[in-house]
Amino acid sequence: MEQTKTAPKREGWGSKLGVILAVAGSAVGLGNFLRFPSQAALNGGGAFMIPYFISLLILGIPLMWVEWTIGRYGGGFGHGSAPGIFHTMWKKNRFIKYFGVLGIFAPIVILSYYTYIESWLLGYAWFSVSGKLSQVAATEQGMRAFLTGYQGLLPTDHFSGLGYAYLFFLITFALNAWVIYRGLKGGIEKLCNWAMPTLVICGIILTVRVLTIGTPHPETPDNTILNGLGYLWNPDFKALTNAKVWLAAAGQIFFTLSIGFGVIMTYASYLNKREDVALSGLTASATNEFVEVILGGSIVIPAAFAFFGSARIVEIAQSGSFNIGFVTMPMIFNQIPAGMCFASIWYGLLFLAGITSSVSMAIPAIAFLEDEFNISRKKAALITIAIVFFLCQPAILFLGRGVMDELDFWGGTFCLILAGAIEAILFSWVFGMDKAWEEMHHGAEMSVPSVFKFILRYITPVYLLAILGFWLYQEGWPVILMQGVSVENRPFILWTRIGLLLFFGLLSYLVWHAWKKRSTVTDP
Ligand code: PHE
Repeated sequence: MEQTKTAPKREGWGSKLGVILAVAGSAVGLGNFLRFPSQAALNGGGAFMIPYFISLLILGIPLMWVEWTIGRYGGGFGHGSAPGIFHTMWKKNRFIKYFGVLGIFAPIVILSYYTYIESWLLGYAWFSVSGKLSQVAATEQGMRAFLTGYQGLLPTDHFSGLGYAYLFFLITFALNAWVIYRGLKGGIEKLCNWAMPTLVICGIILTVRVLTIGTPHPETPDNTILNGLGYLWNPDFKALTNAKVWLAAAGQIFFTLSIGFGVIMTYASYLNKREDVALSGLTASATNEFVEVILGGSIVIPAAFAFFGSARIVEIAQSGSFNIGFVTMPMIFNQIPAGMCFASIWYGLLFLAGITSSVSMAIPAIAFLEDEFNISRKKAALITIAIVFFLCQPAILFLGRGVMDELDFWGGTFCLILAGAIEAILFSWVFGMDKAWEEMHHGAEMSVPSVFKFILRYITPVYLLAILGFWLYQEGWPVILMQGVSVENRPFILWTRIGLLLFFGLLSYLVWHAWKKRSTVTDP
C-alpha cells in the first residue's frame, strides 16, 4: 500500500475557506492574547518585536509552508500523523518515524493543561456576567485571592476548594470532546466557521474600547494608551544582543502558529493534491499575525500600561504568564464604564480562541490510530478523548506544584524546536529541495519567492539547532537537575517527567508495532 498513491479513502474538509479557518483557528489561541503580551513585556517590549518579526520570516512562515506541504504529501499515502509522514519522506531510514512521535506527543501534552486554562476562561466569563467578578476586582489582592481560591490553591471567602474549577473543566472538556468526536468537517470546521469571525469582531470591539481610554489617571500623565503602544512598537536595539530575547521570540512564533506540533501537518493531510497549500498557508499565518500583533498587541499591553505603568507590567508578567489575563484585565475592566460587559466579551473571546486551538491538538493522535491501526474514526476519537481526560488530571490537581509549567516547557518549547529543525532538514535535504519545491507548488495559487529555498535549506535549521545547542549549553544541566525547583516540588516534577517519558515510550512502541504489523502484511 505504501508504494502506491491509491490511499484508502480518508475524511476531507468541506471547503477551502473552511480549512484555512480551521488552521487559523488552531493558530489563534491563548498564545495570541495572553502569552504574546506577557512575552513581549518580559522581554523589553520594543526589543522583543524585532526578533519576533525576524523569527516569523525565517522560521514561522517557511515552516508553515513545510507543514502544509509534507502533510498533504503524507496524506496522499494514507498517513496523517508525523510518524507516517516522516517515513514516507525518508523511506530508507528506519528511525525517522520515531522522531515523528514528537508530532503526536507534543500536542497531547499541551492539551493536557490547555483545556484546564480554557475552562478558567469559561468560569471567568460566567463570573463577569453573574457579577461576582465586579465584587472582587477593585484591588490586586482581591483578584489574586479570587484566582488562587478558584484554582483550589487556598480556601477563600468565595471558594472552599476545586469545586467550581472542576465543574467548568468538565463542561469545557465535554464541549471539546463533542467537537472532536463530530470530526473535521462536522465538528471542527463548523465550529471555526462561526467562532473565528466572532472572535475577530469581539477583538475589534475590545481594541477600539482600549484605544479610546486615553489617560485614565491624570496624576500619572505619562501613562497613556499611546505610550503603551509606544512601549511595544518603539524599537529598542540595545536588547538585541541578549540571546534570551531571541529564544523567547522564536518560542512564541512556534507556539502561536501551532508549528512543530504536528497539528497543521495532520490538517493538511486531509487535502488532496490539487488543493493549494502555498497561499492557504500564508493566509492562515497572516490571519494569526493580524490577531496577535494588531488585536492581541492593542488590548492587554496598552491597557495595562495606561492603568499601571511600564514597570508594573513587567512585574505582573513575571508573576505568571496568565496573571495579566486573570488578574490585571478584570481590574482594568472594573474601572471603565460598563466594564463587566467588556469583561464578558474578553473572556468569551478568549474561550473561543482557546477551544478552536484545543480541538486541533487531539487530531494528530486520532489520525495516528485511524491510519496506522485501521481503527474507525469515531473509535479513535473516543480512545483519544479518554486518554486525554486522564492526562488532564495532574495539571488540575497539582497546579501549585509547578506541573503545568513543566508540561509546557517540554511539550510547548523543547519538542517544538526539535521537531521544527527535523522538518526543515527532512524537507530541504532529505526529500530534496527541488522535489519539495515542486510538491509545494502543486495546485498552488501563488509562487513562493525562491529566497525561501535558501532560508529553508540553511538559515532555518541552523538557527533552530543553534537555539537548541545554546539552551543545552546554558541551561540544559540546571534544568535537567531541577536546580531551580523548590525541594517540596521536586517529587512532583520528577513524576511529571517520568510520566512524560513513559508516554513518549508508549507512543514509540505503538509506532514500532504499527510498522511491524505492516511489514508482515504487505512486504514479505
Ligand atoms: N497556537 C495556539 C495558541 O496560540 C496554541 C496551539 C499549540 C494550538 C499547539 C495547537 C497546537 O494558543
